[in-house]
Order: sequence, then C-alpha cells, then structure tokens
Amino acid sequence: MNEHFRVGLSPDFLDESGRNVWGDIGLEALDAAGLPWAYLRGSGPDELPAADIAGYDAVLFAAPAVTERSFSDEIEPPLILARFGVGYDTVDLDACTRRDVVVTITPDGARRPVAASALAMLLALQHRIVVKDRLVRTGRWADKTRWMGTGLTGRTVGVIGFGSVASDFAALIAPFSPRVLAYDPHRTRESAAEQGAELVTLDELLATADAVLVMAALTPETHHLIDERALNLMKPGAVLVNVARGPIVHEKALSAALADGRIAGAALDVFEHEPLATDSPLIAMDNVILSPHAVSWTDEMSLGNGSSAITAILDVYKGRAPRFVANREVLERPGFRRRLAERAERSAA
Ligand SMILES: NC(=O)c1ccc[n+]([C@@H]2O[C@H](COP(=O)([O-])OP(=O)(O)OC[C@H]3O[C@@H](n4cnc5c(N)ncnc54)[C@H](O)[C@@H]3O)[C@@H](O)[C@H]2O)c1
Repeated sequence: MNEHFRVGLSPDFLDESGRNVWGDIGLEALDAAGLPWAYLRGSGPDELPAADIAGYDAVLFAAPAVTERSFSDEIEPPLILARFGVGYDTVDLDACTRRDVVVTITPDGARRPVAASALAMLLALQHRIVVKDRLVRTGRWADKTRWMGTGLTGRTVGVIGFGSVASDFAALIAPFSPRVLAYDPHRTRESAAEQGAELVTLDELLATADAVLVMAALTPETHHLIDERALNLMKPGAVLVNVARGPIVHEKALSAALADGRIAGAALDVFEHEPLATDSPLIAMDNVILSPHAVSWTDEMSLGNGSSAITAILDVYKGRAPRFVANREVLERPGFRRRLAERAERSAA
C-alpha cells in the first residue's frame, strides 16, 4: 500500500447498514493501484469540513457541499476533490482554486445513462406506459382504447443543447429513422451534421419537432429558455422531455400548456425546485411522467461516474492533470503545478 496518497470517500456513499448506496463504483481500481481508501468518518451529509478531510490527498464526494469551511490555514488540503456527478453548484470553486485544489466532475460517466433515460422517458410517454400500468392496477382494463400511443419511427425529434448527452441520444434513437433537429448556439452546422442532426434555430425546432428534448447546460441564457412563448410554438401533439436541469423550463408555463392541451405530454426528471412540491399541478396529470432526478441512476451510471472520478484521482496521483476539471484556472497556478510536480516525483520514486 502506498501510504503517501490516501483517498477519502464522503459518507453519503453509505446507507445506515454501511452499504454503498451506489453499488459498484469501481473502487477496485484504487486497490489495484495500491492506494488506501476509507469513508470519511466525522462528516455530516451536508458539507465536507476541513477537519474531516485532513490527511487525505484525494476526496471522492457526491452530495456534500465544498465551502470555505472545507479549508483551514493549519491543514494541508487534498490535491484533488473528485465529484461523483456533473453538477458543481454546491462547490465553491474559487475557494478550491485559491487553495490550489483541483475539482473534477464525471461527464463521461453520465452521458450514456442520461441519454438512455431520455429515450426511455420518451418511449414511455409515447406508448402511455405509466397510464397503462395504472389501468391494470385499478381494474380499468377496458379503458385502454382511450390511450392510443404515438409511434416514434420517422418522427421529428428536436434536441435543445447538442453536447455529450444529446450526441449519445442521437445515436441511440437512430434506428427509429427520425429527423433530428438540434438547437445549440455553440455548435456548427457541420459538426452537428456529422452526428446526424440538422442545426436549426430554436423557433424552427419548436415549431417542427414532434418531441422536444431539453439537454442543454443550465446557464443564464438557458434559464427559462422554454417559457410560455416557446411552449406556444410547439405543435399541439408534441411532447417535452427534460433530463437536463429544471430551471431551463418555466414550470408554471409548462403546467398551463399541459392543462390546456397546448402540448400533448411531458416527461420530467428535473424540476425548478427539487423535491417537487406535492401540490404541484403536474402530479395529477395523466399525460406527465415524473422522476425524482434519478431516472438515469443505474449500475452503468454508478460504475461510469465512479470510474471517471477514480481515473481523475489516479491521474493526480501520478502527477498528471486530470481530464474533466471544473476549475480549469487552477491548472495554471504555480502553487498547484508545484504540488502536482511533487506528486509526480513521489510516484516515480
Ligand atoms: N438528469 C440527470 O441526472 C443528469 C445527469 C447528468 C447531466 N445532466 C444534465 O444534462 C445536460 C447535458 O449534459 P451534457 O453532459 O451533455 O453537457 P454538455 O456540456 O456536454 O452539453 C451541454 C450543451 O448545452 C449547450 N448550450 C449551452 N448554452 C446553450 C444555449 N443557450 N442554448 C442551447 N444549448 C446551449 C452547450 O453548447 C453544450 O453543447 C446538462 O444540463 C447536465 O447538467 C442531467
């Protein structure tokens, strides 16, 4: 065992019985590299306090926030904080950068499971699977004639945001021979075409697509991008799927559009405020499928996120800059470069 590089895991990975709630997250890669690892003992679920991560060179974490209180002038901070997941809104990146700590995320672990989830939600919506399940359970078998589904083959599908998840989604949906439209101001027509999509304006996408899938990053520009105006542009028979981030869709406007039959249905894994309030009008709607920001939680996601985070930790252990860095400016800081160079020397020794 290499006692000179210790890896800590945030305690939210464990349930009350001490079982890793995510299942197999690929920890054997740390064993194979001879790196000792342990679950952090004292940490509460909300925050990573400096005292708890003291003595660790790398911390793999999922839920806890990283704040100023995660650092102390008396304690050498870890070299890497590896987030299990893609969001870092609860991580004070500036505080990490000032301490020469690199923060990584795991977009390569999430892209396939999220893309597959979007397809699962779309098909469930089109085939009315949730309603049909309820018909059987409530003895309303004969009502099935009221719930004719909509086939996906040859339809027009529009993705808002054409990044990693949307690219995988375009590949997964290809056997249905759809026309795939994409709206993404940061992509070129040529690069979208290489992945089977036509780059169009937002309005053209909304007015043409039978299914609109929200797959963009949440930014000030995409906040409420799908508002009342956007929803009014959609075809009456069209459906909306959001697996990206809740605030991209104006939820009140969406509820109204669904209630009025201006669009045919929606499948939502994410919401403006999570958890979704139990008195939300969305809850009573038969043409809506809901998931608690967990539709992509599968063994594939666990292993993908874990392996990605552990790859980042092993990179840093070897003295290499990791791939998916959330605070990229840290890579240029003399203090971080010195810490990384020292690591490279110790690993080579
Ligand atoms: N539901 C989940 O559990 C889950 C899991 C992982 C990721 N996500 C979310 O899925 C989304 C996609 O993730 P990804 O890994 O593909 O990210 P990504 O960064 O690869 O892609 C995001 C895309 O959004 C585009 N974009 C930025 N501004 C835009 C704008 N104004 N209009 C349209 N597009 C714009 C970017 O150019 C980029 O191509 C993100 O919002 C991410 O947070 C959700």
